[in-house]
Amino acid sequence: MRTPPMGWMSWERFHCNIDCENDPKNCISENLFRGMADRLAEDGWKEMGYDHVMIDDCWSSMLRDKDGRLQPDPQRFPGGIAKLARYLHNRGLKLGIYGDLGTHTCGGYPGTTLDKIETDAQMFASWGVDFLKLDGCYSNEEEQQKGYPLMSKALNATGRPIGYSCSWPAYRGGLLPSVNYTLLGEICNLWRNYDDIQDSWDSVQEITDWFFDNQEILQPGRWNDPDMPVYMDQSRSQMALWAIMAAPLIMSNNLRTLSNHGLYTKFTVYSPFLCLYVTLFFLQKRSHIEVYWRPLSQSASALVFLSRRQDMPYHYHTSLAKLNYTAGSYKAYDVFTGKTLSGLSATTEFTVSIDPSGVVMWYVYPRIQRSTTTISGFTL
Ligand code: GLA
Repeated sequence: MRTPPMGWMSWERFHCNIDCENDPKNCISENLFRGMADRLAEDGWKEMGYDHVMIDDCWSSMLRDKDGRLQPDPQRFPGGIAKLARYLHNRGLKLGIYGDLGTHTCGGYPGTTLDKIETDAQMFASWGVDFLKLDGCYSNEEEQQKGYPLMSKALNATGRPIGYSCSWPAYRGGLLPSVNYTLLGEICNLWRNYDDIQDSWDSVQEITDWFFDNQEILQPGRWNDPDMPVYMDQSRSQMALWAIMAAPLIMSNNLRTLSNHGLYTKFTVYSPFLCLYVTLFFLQKRSHIEVYWRPLSQSASALVFLSRRQDMPYHYHTSLAKLNYTAGSYKAYDVFTGKTLSGLSATTEFTVSIDPSGVVMWYVYPRIQRSTTTISGFTL
């Protein structure tokens, strides 16, 4: 590999979500990877170099097949991996898969023990896999010493070019002399040196510091992998919180280079409403989700669901009654998506999905309310 691989990988955002029944769009399944492949192929990503779609943990069945081979979960990958690989190849993309040198993957799925290395390498190659991330949960130092070079040999023996990402250094503290970077450079194309990234700025900074402090181990022409780039929702969250605090919105951005006005214009129309009442209430805190509420004019109110989580979108279940609303029928306007939820009674149970460091903000009003106020193009 002459340039570092680029693409998309499921872990940071979708983790081990296997609940396809309740969350079909976000569970680890062939649909997720096909959908992401469509985005890479159709939205200009591929042309920029983002050409890999990589399956992380939790794709396989809990058991190997009768011949001892890994197999995908039949419900979530009914078409199988080879078909998914063809889908990607037809769009000029490459398929990455996840394995773990050890008895189990970090998520508890079947791992690749030393005796299974060849079988698994052959299987991946026969499916048309182009890239392997080999994690290192549930193996010891000696097994890793043997296993990582063995997998390199086994992949080469398949005759198929398969990019090889080794998590080995991350399991040995990442530093010299415990990690033999010279050997790694010979057997792997890239490697994870350090902890998993979390969806937080703290984590981004911690990883940056580690790589900066340990630059001497970086190898030109081979790739240290500080883990996935994340996109955080923090600007949006700040705007929602400032709005529900009825803060004066006095910007200090460099307006000559600011590209995203959208966020600001949304709240310039919204903020005056919030100023009518002074009180901001803190209603609930559960599972690192906080709910803020402010009463507004005409019996309306604003709700902000703020996530202080760093892992993945959280599905928060509640009802307006649980948030102290009186009996009645309500509508809820989602300030960011522009969608309205109608027919909400106080006792209707609902679920909001809140991104890590993100918010969901609702303008809630009684169903019978008639008004011609416009909020961000939406007439209430
Ligand atoms: C480890 C790895 C992550 C991810 C998970 C999957 O934590 O470092 O990148 O692959 O396992 O379970």
